[in-house]
Amino acid sequence: MSSLHAQLQSRNVDPELASLILTLAECGSAISTLVRGGALSGILGATESENVQGETQKKLDVIANDLIKERLSAQPLVQALASEEEDHSVDANPAGRFLVSFDPLDGSSNIDINSLVGTIFSVLPAQSGVSGEAAFMQPGRNQLAACYILYGPATVMALTTGQGTWMFTLDPQTDTFVLSDGQVQIPQQTGEFAINASNQRFWQPAMQRYIADLIAGKEGPRGRNFNMRWIAAMVGDVHRVLSRGGLFTYPQDTKNPAKPYKLRLMYEANPMAMLVEQAGGVASTGYETILDIEPEQIHQRVAVILGSKDEVETCLDYHKA
Ligand code: F6P
Ligand code: MN
Repeated sequence: MSSLHAQLQSRNVDPELASLILTLAECGSAISTLVRGGALSGILGATESENVQGETQKKLDVIANDLIKERLSAQPLVQALASEEEDHSVDANPAGRFLVSFDPLDGSSNIDINSLVGTIFSVLPAQSGVSGEAAFMQPGRNQLAACYILYGPATVMALTTGQGTWMFTLDPQTDTFVLSDGQVQIPQQTGEFAINASNQRFWQPAMQRYIADLIAGKEGPRGRNFNMRWIAAMVGDVHRVLSRGGLFTYPQDTKNPAKPYKLRLMYEANPMAMLVEQAGGVASTGYETILDIEPEQIHQRVAVILGSKDEVETCLDYHKA
């Protein structure tokens, strides 16, 4: 049994980055306690307000955001933070070396049905002489660390600092994250895919063709059957992909022409792409590697196709045709 703290030391992670990661883990375990209390913690239901993206904020969205904001602002190593629930980036400590972007509560429509939710973090280096939101405008390839904490039957943390992807499980007795997989490896091939099929008529022709061929199964051009899963929380779907492989996508669609993409680059797509690549998988928009995108805004959205290498590459072939 090796703790997160011991792993960070034994794998020679920069001690300041390690200290920041321990703060992120503490945020995760505090939110896990609230999630576990459900209605008893007073976290269910909606607030009266909307976030900058026009989505109604759930109580737990706001509680998790405030908890993380408070703890990161008190961390001397954090120069600034950007959150899904904050309109603008928030300055913390000018001398800090790190910029942290986060989705405090991913999959918030699952809160009230006692289903999977999680927290996603991305850590970028601060840039000398650049402050405010401009400092965050770096490709995901620059991330120093990425992690999510999934609040499921067990609370688990997937973490990468660029030396592979590791999985930890929260020990409720000691409130510490304990290593459960020191080298996550996504199987290259898969028979499982995840997409919100209710948007089918709004997808681009390439995605229409790809999914139609999966659904055609044994009798179709792929010559084998595929199974479908959709958790409605990216953190849950990505966890399944890291655990046993699969393809997860939230593709471009024309449902709302003003919003062709759903997932956010800085605190959803980028950290998940790093975790997936570090576990041997692939993460793309269909046309571009996620981690190479040069961001223009902290809340910008992108198409996401990620998971098992061979299957994602097959999907990308449809986009070339
Ligand atoms: O954060 C956005 C998100 O909640 C993801 O976690 C999830 O994959 C997706 O939206 C679900 O979207 P939809 O409600 O359209 O299925
Ligand atoms: Mn989210």
